[in-house]
Amino acid sequence: MARVNVELKARDADPEATLAHCLALGAVESGVLVQRDTYFAGRDGRLKLREQDGERPELIAYRRPDSSEASESTYVLAPVADADAMAEALDAGLGATVVVSKKRRLLLWEGVRIHLDDVEGLGSFVEFEAVLPDAGDVDEARSKVAHLRESLGIIDDSLVSVGYSDLLLEGPEALLRAADAAMRNAYAPYSGFKVGAAVRAPSGAIYAGANVENAAYPQGQCAEASALGAMVAAGESMITAVAVVAEKLEVCPPCGGCRQRLIEFGVPSTPVYLGRPGSKTPATVTLAELLPGSFDREALDA
Ligand code: THU
Repeated sequence: MARVNVELKARDADPEATLAHCLALGAVESGVLVQRDTYFAGRDGRLKLREQDGERPELIAYRRPDSSEASESTYVLAPVADADAMAEALDAGLGATVVVSKKRRLLLWEGVRIHLDDVEGLGSFVEFEAVLPDAGDVDEARSKVAHLRESLGIIDDSLVSVGYSDLLLEGPEALLRAADAAMRNAYAPYSGFKVGAAVRAPSGAIYAGANVENAAYPQGQCAEASALGAMVAAGESMITAVAVVAEKLEVCPPCGGCRQRLIEFGVPSTPVYLGRPGSKTPATVTLAELLPGSFDREALDA
């Protein structure tokens, strides 16, 4: 059966204060949910398997226009008996795209679900979900959501128009995860220092690489060079973002040579994320900050 919700989502800089505000409005605390959503590449990427502590897993297919205004979404729920088998089948058939893990504090206010979400790799958010018909008709649901928004003083700039899965796919997290996965395969028997790097091309594709050492030490190759090589081999020659992850360092600055390698394919403002997947605030620097006054191909035209 298709159902309809009215939803609004915003970044939340101060979840404790938001909780206090909600309680003051008369919202009732209804528990903390630990949820893991695995997304699959369907027609519009809105098919997910939800696993939640103590609950039967569900397959959820939904449609929602990407909009920062309170918007209506339609969804279909299907109970799942064996989550692992379902995930394996959907991954084989469609491909899994991203996993969203979060801790959700649930409050209820006049038929509106208030979610105070702490999302792995993204940070804190507040979400209103007016479920129809519990919250009344669509107009009533919209005005309830508007009232909550106003009471909590949520400004336009903090509104988020896309889902957590989109944020993870677009932001540093996907790149850090790709770099981290490559790092685990690094060949670094001499230094014991494993590094992974990932670059994103304008197509959105991510290319990853690891350091590859050699008994003849100078023949060793850095992770960034491996990632760039994978990108070039796939037919692309521009980068829009970079991530570097090391096993033994929280933040691993790219070596001087790799800064030069990266600037060849990027622009001065290209972001470089240094950290680990799941870290709430990976250090973000630009290529220009890493390598001011770099030598580039224009110098060759002089
Ligand atoms: N390494 C990288 O892969 N990238 C960097 O930017 C810094 C250093 C590797 C090279 C070598 O295999 C190991 O880390 C120790 O220097």
